[in-house]
Amino acid sequence: MARLWCLMSIITLLQASKFVISRREVTTPPLPILPLPSSSQLKWQERELIMFLHFGVNTFTDSEWGTGHENPAIFNPVGLDASQWVNVAAEAGFSLMILTAKHHDGFCLWPSKYTDHSVASSPWKNGRGDVVQELVIAARAHEGIDVGLYLSPWDRHDKRYGHDLQYNEYYLAQLQELLNKYGSVREIWFDGAKGSNVPNMSYYFSDWFSMVKELQTSINIFSDAGPDVRWVGNEMGFAGSTCWSTINRTSLSIGNGSIVDYLNTGDSKGTDWLPAECDVSIRKGWFWHKSESPKRLSVLLDIYYNSVGRNCVLLFNVPPNTTGLISENDVQRLKEFRGAIDTIFSTNLAQSCFVRASSQRGGKEGDFGPENVLDGDHLWTYWAPKDEESEDNWIEFKCIDKLRFNVIRIQEAIGLGQRIKQHEVYVDGRKVAKGTTVGHKRLHRLEKGVVKGQIVRIKILKSRAVPLISSIGLHYDPFWHPKET
Ligand SMILES: *[C@@H]1O[C@H](CO)[C@@H](O)[C@H](O)[C@H]1NC(C)=O
Ligand SMILES: *[C@@H]1O[C@H](CO)[C@@H](O)[C@H](O)[C@H]1NC(C)=O
Ligand SMILES: *[C@@H]1O[C@H](CO)[C@@H](O)[C@H](O)[C@H]1NC(C)=O
Ligand SMILES: *[C@@H]1O[C@H](CO)[C@@H](O)[C@H](O)[C@H]1NC(C)=O
Repeated sequence: MARLWCLMSIITLLQASKFVISRREVTTPPLPILPLPSSSQLKWQERELIMFLHFGVNTFTDSEWGTGHENPAIFNPVGLDASQWVNVAAEAGFSLMILTAKHHDGFCLWPSKYTDHSVASSPWKNGRGDVVQELVIAARAHEGIDVGLYLSPWDRHDKRYGHDLQYNEYYLAQLQELLNKYGSVREIWFDGAKGSNVPNMSYYFSDWFSMVKELQTSINIFSDAGPDVRWVGNEMGFAGSTCWSTINRTSLSIGNGSIVDYLNTGDSKGTDWLPAECDVSIRKGWFWHKSESPKRLSVLLDIYYNSVGRNCVLLFNVPPNTTGLISENDVQRLKEFRGAIDTIFSTNLAQSCFVRASSQRGGKEGDFGPENVLDGDHLWTYWAPKDEESEDNWIEFKCIDKLRFNVIRIQEAIGLGQRIKQHEVYVDGRKVAKGTTVGHKRLHRLEKGVVKGQIVRIKILKSRAVPLISSIGLHYDPFWHPKET
């Protein structure tokens, strides 16, 4: 009996070792190409849409730049309801809302203990209001909505402004209030604006940035020069048609007009991951003015294609009015905008097609086949060609029925670095689109309008390393009517 038991054990052992030996070797993912995004930057990129809220004394004086001499008594948004802002944002697909806690006029939307030029001196809620707090509470009550803040370095009210040490201490004190008291803040926005009467005023950015990182672990710092998110170089919401998330930080400085083109395109050789944010307002101005109305839907869609569709995040300003609410015409326009985006992108016509590619990493057995580009836009599943081939790779959709589309969407697996430098799209052998960078998302709205065809081939002509594509879509945009030439 014991002998039989022993024999059985040997057989079991043999079987186990046989199993180990014949186990299929799973193909590993390719190496990344540096620099890479941090996890906060990756999270930021996937938001695609961020709402900016310009609100303050300017809302009540019908101006864009306050003087700093405004009487706090004018600030009285009697119907303020931050949950209306949050609902409007969420319904339009925004997941982060950045509020102007202080603009150039120096008036603080929270009761800062370092100044009386704030809501505490206003009649609103008898001086016991706190707009920052209201937004934070409303956002917390809504799953998936985060908060960000803007604290203007330029302060036209405070007497310390112009005195480097005193003012920088004041500014840092306010940063600490905002980043200690209100829970998690996901983005903080810095610009380099200065008063022309004190051109030599220096801002201690290094101290500020270090303090920010100390107080908030998952925050992204925005400025002309990062360190986490860079400005796109204009306030029209347009990125360059070439737009790298990579750039050399050492070539950047805050408030330097001569670097706007570099900011707009980034740098294929850049040593830092520093993606661009496109700030633009739904209206002409940043603050609410009775006389202004929202931009047309077609303009909003141009902005979307030229920002989100060019590897950027769109920071879209929607200013609350004097009542303290987002105006009905802005709400309506945002609904149209969301409706349009959903109409265009909820159907991927490529889904019904066969897909094949020039090669695939690990062969048919591997996890890197071209079908991965049709599994939604999961970042970590992607088509990868064989390693040797960083040029002349292609992926092709063959469809049984003729497709009718006018938008092509391509997305790289940017978790492993941004790679594609040049690409082209062919329909039944005819070139219909070409471009340089792709990044997180590249949208081509076809210049000649709708194309019909059965075979769609995307060629990757040049790439920093083997291209990795996580998603491709062929879409029909009924709002796109290219001008006849
Ligand atoms: C600013 O600094 C420059 C160079 O140091 C100096 O020439 C100029 O007078 C200063 N301007 C003011 C307003 O202090
Ligand atoms: C502005 O940027 C350019 C290009 O990087 C640089 O040469 C110049 O020194 C910068 N100017 C300032 C004031 O930082
Ligand atoms: C950025 O840095 C890289 C690496 O040092 C360098 O090759 C590239 O030329 C730089 N770009 C610019 C515009 O100076
Ligand atoms: C602000 O917007 C709300 C909501 O649309 C509206 O009821 C209110 O009348 C507006 N206030 C002003 C001053 O236009």
